[in-house]
Amino acid sequence: MQTRVAITTGGGDAPGLNAVIRAIVKTGINRFNMEFIGIEDGFEGLINTRRIVKLNRDSVRGILPKGGTILGTTNRGNPFEYEITSPDGEIRTADLSDRCMENFEALELEALIAIGGDGTMHIAQRFYEKGMPVIGVPKTIDNDLQATDVSFGFNTAVTVATEAIDRLHTTAESHRRTMVLEVMGRDAGWIALEAGIAGGADLILIPEIPYNLEDALRFIKRRYARGSNFSIAVVAEAAENQPFEGNVVQRRRKSDSPGTWFASMVQEQLNVEVRHMILGHLQRGGSPTCIDRMLGTRFGVRAAELVAEKKFGRMVALDGINVHDVPIGDAIGKQKFVNPDGQLVRTAESLGIYCGRPLS
Ligand code: F6P
Repeated sequence: MQTRVAITTGGGDAPGLNAVIRAIVKTGINRFNMEFIGIEDGFEGLINTRRIVKLNRDSVRGILPKGGTILGTTNRGNPFEYEITSPDGEIRTADLSDRCMENFEALELEALIAIGGDGTMHIAQRFYEKGMPVIGVPKTIDNDLQATDVSFGFNTAVTVATEAIDRLHTTAESHRRTMVLEVMGRDAGWIALEAGIAGGADLILIPEIPYNLEDALRFIKRRYARGSNFSIAVVAEAAENQPFEGNVVQRRRKSDSPGTWFASMVQEQLNVEVRHMILGHLQRGGSPTCIDRMLGTRFGVRAAELVAEKKFGRMVALDGINVHDVPIGDAIGKQKFVNPDGQLVRTAESLGIYCGRPLS
């Protein structure tokens, strides 16, 4: 008898998702006599079971270098609080989790592997508590999950951001401009910090270290005074400056992104030419780096093994150089932030990069 397993991808996409899907399917077929179906668009596909596809060797052929997810994804559609719009436009939420449990039974499934971020893992845990045999695989380009040392997608995002910094360098230098690059990362500064160091930025502003605007401007001014005719600032999307005392003019409007606002401050206050860009979803799209392909593949193999071992309610994770597994319930809701006094920030500051604190 074959073991019938479902795979779903939820939340924002991350490069490496297809590597995970491919590794699960190949491992399950090669080693454990499993057969697979894909549930499309996260848990939405379990509410409406027409969104089901068969996954076999043919369906995962050639997907390793592909970004995104062949199964589709969404960051809406939590079956426990599903939003339903009535004909008169009123939105109410309904708990459709029982319907998902029934569909799971009807599909004669023996396990569900849910690949996703913290939101997906919360839902996976609730289904596990309702009796569904679930395995979790964490993903996020932000690298902000405490339970895993690294998540796949992060390296691709850092690589894309680093290349953007490289490209900004040559144009900044030619025009003697200050270039401000805003990168993703949600509430954490990992992408900004690693890409900033790898790309040789001059300033890196991250949410974990609220910066002092005067200090940052002084830093740029000093660079110009010392003959460096350009500066590159990398700003995390959640970077914040220290609050000003009563100075409303210099306060950031909510509608301004941190990078846009910082660029406008440099332009206004230093009277130098500034250009800024928001890198956005370029960081998430496209082919995964070899590091993300490797990590996704290792996570996928271990996820299939966990199904074979019937170790349900567990999530794969990287601990140092080893893939291991932890209870999903212990992993959810715990974010990992940059330590302002840690080695990475010290590395940046040792190189003379302004990270929000005055440099000696
Ligand atoms: O969590 C991944 C991420 O790309 C964040 O870095 C970013 O804040 C967010 O998702 C963007 O979400 P969306 O794709 O819904 O705009």
